[in-house]
Amino acid sequence: MSTSALILHLTTAVFFLLLSSASATDHIVGANKGWNPGINYTLWANNHTFYVGDFISFRYQKTQYNVFEVNNTGYVNCTIEGATGNWSSGKDFIPLNKAKRYYFICGTGGCFNGMKVSVLVHPLPSPPRSAMAAEHSSKDSFAPAAARGGGWGVVFVVFLSIWFGSSGGSFGC
Ligand SMILES: *[C@@H]1O[C@H](CO)[C@@H](O)[C@H](O)[C@H]1NC(C)=O
Ligand SMILES: *[C@@H]1O[C@H](CO)[C@@H](O)[C@H](O)[C@H]1NC(C)=O
Ligand SMILES: *[C@@H]1O[C@H](CO)[C@@H](O)[C@H](O)[C@H]1NC(C)=O
Ligand SMILES: *[C@@H]1O[C@H](CO)[C@@H](O)[C@H](O)[C@H]1NC(C)=O
Ligand SMILES: *[C@@H]1O[C@H](CO)[C@@H](O)[C@H](O)[C@H]1NC(C)=O
Repeated sequence: MSTSALILHLTTAVFFLLLSSASATDHIVGANKGWNPGINYTLWANNHTFYVGDFISFRYQKTQYNVFEVNNTGYVNCTIEGATGNWSSGKDFIPLNKAKRYYFICGTGGCFNGMKVSVLVHPLPSPPRSAMAAEHSSKDSFAPAAARGGGWGVVFVVFLSIWFGSSGGSFGC
């Protein structure tokens, strides 16, 4: 491989990293109202589109509320038996890594007062591909992958969270 070809490949990789940093969305539950009783989070969720690699984040008084990931039964009945995750930092960033429906509820009773949210996470518009593979594909299939940043977004966000997490930044949970 010639030096110029190598530089082109590296430039392409860096381009994807920069692009993807802007594409993984952090969906703040309830926007400026946060995670509190008496809010219809179905309306909030209907107003957002979730993709694999995005984050959902919950902001709340950690002395009063928390977050449990449950299944449909837990969501409908406000029960945390068999929960697959729980968070209680008051500022939780949760990665949405799978294309599926997620269910989150408050486990301190707030669920009965509306603190439950269900979000459907969509697959990326086109399969993640490496920068090198993308370089050889047509413009048409290149564009949707570039628009969402593909798999690089996850890599970049993981890098960011390690970086800020270890330096005590605001990204930690
Ligand atoms: C929230 O809004 C949705 C959509 O309008 C509605 O179907 C649902 O009944 C509402 N939930 C509550 C608890 O009011
Ligand atoms: C839906 O999104 C729009 C635009 O971001 C915003 O103005 C509106 O308040 C949102 N509605 C709800 C229920 O979150
Ligand atoms: C909720 O709980 C009741 C019993 O308490 C059960 O009959 C029902 O099937 C549950 N709902 C779901 C969606 O599992
Ligand atoms: C949800 O999890 C509970 C506890 O593990 C289980 O009993 C129930 O069958 C599950 N419901 C669904 C719809 O998978
Ligand atoms: C919360 O999650 C931890 C693991 O992260 C688990 O050990 C604990 O049992 C969970 N708590 C509940 C109440 O499910």
